[in-house]
Amino acid sequence: MPNDHALQTEAQEILLTNWCGKYTKPSPRLYPHQWNWDSGFIAIGFSYFDQKKAQQELRSLFDAQWRTGMVPHIVFNPAVAGYFPGHDFWESHLSPDAPSFHQTSGLTMPPVHAIALLAIYRNCHNTAAVRFLKELFPKVKALHRYLYEYRDPLKEGLVYIRHPWESGTDNSPAWDEPYRSIDLTHVEIPPYRRTDTTVINAEHRPTKEDYDRYVYLVHTAKKQRYDEKAIAQGFPFLVQDPLFNGILCKANEDMIEIAEIIHEDAGQFKEWNEETRRAIDGKLWDSQMKLYTYYDLNAKRRTTAGAHSGFVPLYGGVPDSSRAQELIQTLQSERFRGAQAENYLVPSYDVTSPRFNPVRYWRGPVWINVNWMIYNGLRRYGFHELAAAVRQHSLDLLRRYGFYEYFDPRKNPPPSENEVPARPGERREMGGYGTDQFSWSAALCLDLLHQNS
Ligand code: GLC
Repeated sequence: MPNDHALQTEAQEILLTNWCGKYTKPSPRLYPHQWNWDSGFIAIGFSYFDQKKAQQELRSLFDAQWRTGMVPHIVFNPAVAGYFPGHDFWESHLSPDAPSFHQTSGLTMPPVHAIALLAIYRNCHNTAAVRFLKELFPKVKALHRYLYEYRDPLKEGLVYIRHPWESGTDNSPAWDEPYRSIDLTHVEIPPYRRTDTTVINAEHRPTKEDYDRYVYLVHTAKKQRYDEKAIAQGFPFLVQDPLFNGILCKANEDMIEIAEIIHEDAGQFKEWNEETRRAIDGKLWDSQMKLYTYYDLNAKRRTTAGAHSGFVPLYGGVPDSSRAQELIQTLQSERFRGAQAENYLVPSYDVTSPRFNPVRYWRGPVWINVNWMIYNGLRRYGFHELAAAVRQHSLDLLRRYGFYEYFDPRKNPPPSENEVPARPGERREMGGYGTDQFSWSAALCLDLLHQNS
C-alpha cells in the first residue's frame, strides 16, 4: 500500500500526464476533452504544486463561456476525434449565444468555479493570484447571474437542471422518478453510437435506456435551439438538485470572500446565498428520510431519492445544527454506512434500496469528489470524527485500488464479483471502476492529504 508521500507523487504525476497544454483531460482515454466541474477540482489539485496550470485550467474553461453566462459542460478539443457525443452531435452553433471560437456542449454543470478560484488564491497569496481573482471574478459572477436569471423560473432561489448530465451524477437513481413521464417508445431518438462501452465494462456504465434518454433530451433542447426561455416554458426534464444547489450556496459564499479580497461589491452574492440556503432547506428537506432530496418541477413534487447528493447542503452551510445532526444519523445508519459498518463512506445511493447497485456508476459506488464535499461539510459543522472517517475511507480506497473514477462501496465484496484474472492462474482484486488515472480523484487526493485530519 503506498504511503502518503507515494500517493501524493502518483497524484501529481496523473495530473501532469493528463495535462494537455491548456487544460487537463479527466482521464487518458475515456474523457479526452475538457469537462466543466472536473476542471474546478483539477485546478484545486494543481494549486498545490503548479499555480500556472491551476489558473490556466479555469481560464480555458471560461474562454468558452456562452453569451448568456453559461459555462458549458464540455469544451471540445478540435484535435481529438471519435468521442460520443462529440461537437457535431451537440451543434452548439444552433444557439446565437454559443461562442464562435470554441466547440462546446449545450448544457452546464455544478458551479464549483468560485470554490476553485478561492482555493487558488489561498494556496498562493501573491499578486499574480490577486490579479487572477480580478480576471475571473466578473466571469464567475456572470455564470451565477445566468443561473438565477434563466434557471430559477419561480424566482425562489433554487435553480433547475435540464439534463442529468448537468448534475454530474449522470445515472443516479434520483432520475428514475422524473423519467417516468418520458415514454421511450413514443419519443424521437436520433440514431447514435456509444463509445464509452468499448473502453469500460458495460455493467459499470449507464444502460442503453439511460443513453436513449440523454440523447432524446439533447435532441429536444437542440430543437429549441438551446433557447433558455423556451426551455423554461416546457421541457421533459426540469429538476432541482440538492447537489447543484448546495454547491451554488458554497460558491456564493466563496464569491463573497473573493469580493472582499478584491474590493468588489458582495451584496448580490449575499442575497443569492441567503435565498438559496433557505430554499434548499424549505423545499428539498425530506423529514421522513432525514435527507435532502430532489424536486421535480414537471410533476410538481419532491422525489424519494436517497442519494449522497442529499448530504452536500452541509457543504453549503444550509441546515441548522439540529438538522445537521439528523443528517449525520442518516449517514451513519444502515442506509449508508451499513448495519455492521460494512461500507466505505459514502455510497452514492442508499444501500438498502432496490435501486442500489454497487458497481454501476452513480447508482451506488463511492465518488471522491462528492466525498470531498461531504468531508468539508462535516468539518464545517464540527463533526470531526465522522469527517475524518470520510477522509480516511477516501484515501483507503485510493490506496487499495488506485486512482479510479469510482469505487465499490462494500469493504468485502463477494470475490466472484470483485476479482478479475490478472495473469493466467492469478486473481487480482477489482473494486475501482470506470477509468483509471482519473484526474479529479488525483486532484482531490492532494487536497485531502494536505488537510491532514
Ligand atoms: C462523467 C461523470 C461526470 C464527469 C465526466 C468527466 O460523465 O458523470 O460527472 O464530469 O464523466 O469526468
